[in-house]
Amino acid sequence: MTNLLVLGTQWGDEGKGKIVDFLAPAFDIVARYQGGHNAGHTVYLRGKKIVLHLIPSGILHPDKICVIGNGLVVSPQAFFKELEELKALGVEVKPGRLLVSRSAQVIMPYHPLLEKIAEQSRGQKMIGTTCRGIGPCYEDKAARWGIRVGDLLEPEILKEKIEASLAIKNKIFEAFGNQPLQVEPILEEYQALGEKLSPYITDVSVFLSQQIKSGQSVLFEGAQGALLDLDHGTYPYVTSSSCTAGGVCTGLGLSPRDITGVLGITKAYTTRVGSGPFPTELKDEAGALIARKGDEFGATTGRARRCGWFDAVAVRYACRINGVDLIALTKPDVLEELTEIKACYAYRYKGTLIRDFPSEPWILERVEPEYRSFPVWSRSIHRQKDWASLPAGFLDYLNWLEDTLETRIGLISTGVDREDIIYRREEFQKILGQRAELLA
Ligand code: GDP
Ligand code: IMO
Ligand code: MG
Repeated sequence: MTNLLVLGTQWGDEGKGKIVDFLAPAFDIVARYQGGHNAGHTVYLRGKKIVLHLIPSGILHPDKICVIGNGLVVSPQAFFKELEELKALGVEVKPGRLLVSRSAQVIMPYHPLLEKIAEQSRGQKMIGTTCRGIGPCYEDKAARWGIRVGDLLEPEILKEKIEASLAIKNKIFEAFGNQPLQVEPILEEYQALGEKLSPYITDVSVFLSQQIKSGQSVLFEGAQGALLDLDHGTYPYVTSSSCTAGGVCTGLGLSPRDITGVLGITKAYTTRVGSGPFPTELKDEAGALIARKGDEFGATTGRARRCGWFDAVAVRYACRINGVDLIALTKPDVLEELTEIKACYAYRYKGTLIRDFPSEPWILERVEPEYRSFPVWSRSIHRQKDWASLPAGFLDYLNWLEDTLETRIGLISTGVDREDIIYRREEFQKILGQRAELLA
């Protein structure tokens, strides 16, 4: 049994899409377990840039089955829009190849409206969300008002639930000077979307358990990153789902024993979109250069990503809480134009050194990062294929990262294309067994 969890170890946008695309040949199924179309996973197909938001990145491999678990919040409109975009690129997706859990939550038209009110009410303390209705949809799930995918197929239940939701939400809209919403048009639209969605709707937990039992392998594709996790991230500046390893079990209806390995995707520097503490943030020329060279603009909202030095305190924490077996390091090529590279190994707070990531945002806002400095390696690593002949300076940097993170690095991504990858086969054999032979 080989089922690998791939997740981000920072604040998202670590390059998960690219690595999932690289690993997909070794798996039969690719499954998302949390989040929604707030994600933006970039993959290049025949030189064309494709950004996947809700549909797992494995969809670009025609022989893979893709799964959207119960842990997601699904916008049916975003789902069909993405399918249309894939079709325009020549990727035809038949329902049997893409499954949506009947227990996934549905993003309703009132969710983005409520989000707008909430964000405005926070003023200076706004979270800077993607405005996709993600947070309010998860709020409804926890408050037990949520409409699930399966409900879309039952007109009476759907009507009842929309009525119950609007009875409260319209009071909020009116209090904030917005027009109340009507039940009928929403009911009509979502009933039609439910019918259109019905060929994709499945009991995902049953499906995956059967597949795993029969020897199929699943790749779990995390969205966002450990530091955006609702419980373990930089709360309240987080997303509303469980991006960390526990999310796989709750978000797909599987057992912890079904996860056989964890690959952490880690950017060689740090980025963050939206508000919240960011100890190693750079507001100088080095940060601007990283943003430019790394093309650090949000794949979903187009917003400029905040950039900063690598934060080993944060990544070591992410490795610990997720049990990361191996790291895939992305975008070190971006650092090659700098003259000096820095990486933070500890924080100083009120005169004391701390090495464990603090959970309070007000502490994170006040810590002073302690940096180790590295010279930039002598020649470019872009397109290098032989690990042993990587420049000595770069290997020194890797060794330091491995020691500091207490985790092995098994893969380096050196550019945006599929070919820009170099990996240690023996490390992948440890987490993929014989399936490592299926990697390019
Ligand atoms: P994800 O959300 O984790 O899938 O990451 P995004 O797709 O949002 O952002 C990663 C960006 O970096 C994308 O534009 C990728 O094409 C790009 N990228 C991924 N790996 C590398 C790399 O090793 N080097 C460079 N220069 N770009 C990369
Ligand atoms: P991928 O999967 C980076 C951020 C938003 C905001 C916070 C809450 O591409 O790595 P939300 O709309 O989720 O309620 O916003 O989370 N955020 C991401 N940042 N990458 C993502 O996804 C993100 N998804 C949400 O910018 O700060
Ligand atoms: Mg992204």
